[in-house]
Amino acid sequence: MGWRGGFEGGVNSRGTGAVIEDDRSKTQSDRALIKRLLKYFSERRREIAYVTVSVVIFTATGVVGPILTGYAIDRYIFPGGRVGNDVTGLSLIVIAYTAITVVMYVAEYVQTFYMATAGQHVIYRLRKDAVDRLEKLSLRYYNERPIGAIISHVTNDVEVFNNFLTFQSTQLISGFTSIVGIAIIMFFINAELAVLALTIVPMLAILVYALHGRMKAAWMDTRRSVGALTAKVAESVAGMKVTQSFAAEEADQAEFVESNRRNMVTNLKAAKWSSFVGPMAQVVQSFGIFAVFYFGAVIIYGGGLEIGILAAFYIWLNNLFRPVQQITQFYPQYQSAMVGLDRVLQIIDAPVDLKESPDAIELAEVRGAVDFDHVSFRYKEGDPNALSDIDVHIQPKEIVAIVGQTGAGKSTFVNLLFRYYDPDEGRVLLDGHDIRGLTFRGLRRHMAIVLQDPFLFSASVMENIRYGNLGATEEEVFRAAKEAGIHDYIMSMPQGYDTPIRESANNISTGQKQLLSIARALVANPKILVLDEATSKVDPFTELLIQNALDNAFSDKTTFIIAHRLSTIRMANRILVFDHGRLVEEGSHDALLEKDGVYARLYRIQFQEPAKAKSAD
Ligand SMILES: Nc1ncnc2c1ncn2[C@@H]1O[C@H](COP(=O)(O)OP(=O)(O)OP(=O)(O)O)[C@@H](O)[C@H]1O
Ligand SMILES: [Mg+2]
Repeated sequence: MGWRGGFEGGVNSRGTGAVIEDDRSKTQSDRALIKRLLKYFSERRREIAYVTVSVVIFTATGVVGPILTGYAIDRYIFPGGRVGNDVTGLSLIVIAYTAITVVMYVAEYVQTFYMATAGQHVIYRLRKDAVDRLEKLSLRYYNERPIGAIISHVTNDVEVFNNFLTFQSTQLISGFTSIVGIAIIMFFINAELAVLALTIVPMLAILVYALHGRMKAAWMDTRRSVGALTAKVAESVAGMKVTQSFAAEEADQAEFVESNRRNMVTNLKAAKWSSFVGPMAQVVQSFGIFAVFYFGAVIIYGGGLEIGILAAFYIWLNNLFRPVQQITQFYPQYQSAMVGLDRVLQIIDAPVDLKESPDAIELAEVRGAVDFDHVSFRYKEGDPNALSDIDVHIQPKEIVAIVGQTGAGKSTFVNLLFRYYDPDEGRVLLDGHDIRGLTFRGLRRHMAIVLQDPFLFSASVMENIRYGNLGATEEEVFRAAKEAGIHDYIMSMPQGYDTPIRESANNISTGQKQLLSIARALVANPKILVLDEATSKVDPFTELLIQNALDNAFSDKTTFIIAHRLSTIRMANRILVFDHGRLVEEGSHDALLEKDGVYARLYRIQFQEPAKAKSAD
């Protein structure tokens, strides 16, 4: 084969990584994407300079090597058409040739290494920018797309792009420059032969063009089917408990088999088209070599050409072949890489809809007065209002209960208080300041929430509680755990506070999870504390114990308690009753019972016997 061992054919196995839900196409053109990419690379000027220089050297060696060969043939092997005898001259050429080869390999090493270095920095920056942006995006962003897709964009999609950038892009770049360099030198040496030799380029281009539609479609199919397979496996694993409890394993298995089979079929199809390219390109190459030899020989017969030049052309043709081959082979990877880049850029470019205003202030101390000033809000354009004209004014240290049916807007109220969303109308005020004029840190530093669906990190119990206040001492963590009524249980665990919580938090019960999140909120020692169904999964006895402990903790805070179990809200000074996004009643427990409205009705449903109702009081 060629000068450098020629072409690498066959199916390319790299870079076909899983890209979940691949059917959405790109949002930016390749040109726009490459422009963005160059901007990232512009921060790595030094590496790029090394790559550029080494690409030029690499290209030059590919051009010069065959000239030496041709020169050796014409000058030392067959000088003037006879067999020569200048061993010294020939040896010098061999040494020069060896030196050039060494330079070429060094250049290739430098180019690959520095491209990979620059590439890794770019990948690092892309991921960092993506995660930075994700931290800033509002919950609205997360509402609108599946979490799995976001994770896949930052991991899988970037990885596909990484593969391309690190392993294939330099070969493509030096491939292009080699084609151009070789074409120029061919024309320079002998234009007639150059035209003959380069006829294979349009032929190859036609071949690739004819197949590219099919190859692209086939590779896209494989990524889609891998995505579907991944999703199926993920769902099977996550839903295993439900599957087993309904004895639905066989149906589940059948679905998996189908996904798996489809994945195999699409991959085989993609392999079929890709395998076709290599051998076909080789046939085209043979035509080119044949043409050059045939017509070259005819020209030599007429005395118009030396044999060494023909030899040089032969080697150039071979050298030309490797880059052409790579460009055709890497096309699918290039496509996937651009899709991957596009997706991560979509995250990086996602508009931040909740912005800190430039002159936002930070309150050092707050008293804890909360005002909702005629607030209306809906989650999406076109949705009905989740909150309509809410107007409440809460004094510091008040204990406020929020009750109402499922979907009444209780959690939404809290979402606005924490500024997870901005109201469509009206204002939310903290100590008389519109919260849109406060920094996020300055706002949320004074607040803590126990979510309806608590989330624990894969970390120790200690770390999970301390998350509420990273500077808390062990003593403070213990005290918070005691107030939340979970200290004794933690001490009974095998490693106490060092016990790791597993990712799915299945080594503790749901109720215990709630108690840990209460401890986490307490350790933050906030001025405003929100408990959204914080004890719904805890038995009534434990709940009572916690409430007694919390009485203490509540004394210096404004507290919001959302609860369906009305017994939970016995210590509230004021009860807000929500119904379909409206504040329909407001007052103390007794006043509301007297009023005999929505609250009284809810209360009677839960405590039908008057006797029980009394004792719960
Ligand atoms: N992220 C969201 N996107 C769109 N609509 C939402 C979203 N969250 C809540 N809603 C809608 O807003 C309304 C109020 O929901 P909210 O979560 O405030 O109710 P809730 O009173 O807390 O109910 P529950 O007692 O079940 O927790 C509901 O109609 C709900 O469907
Ligand atoms: Mg809720």
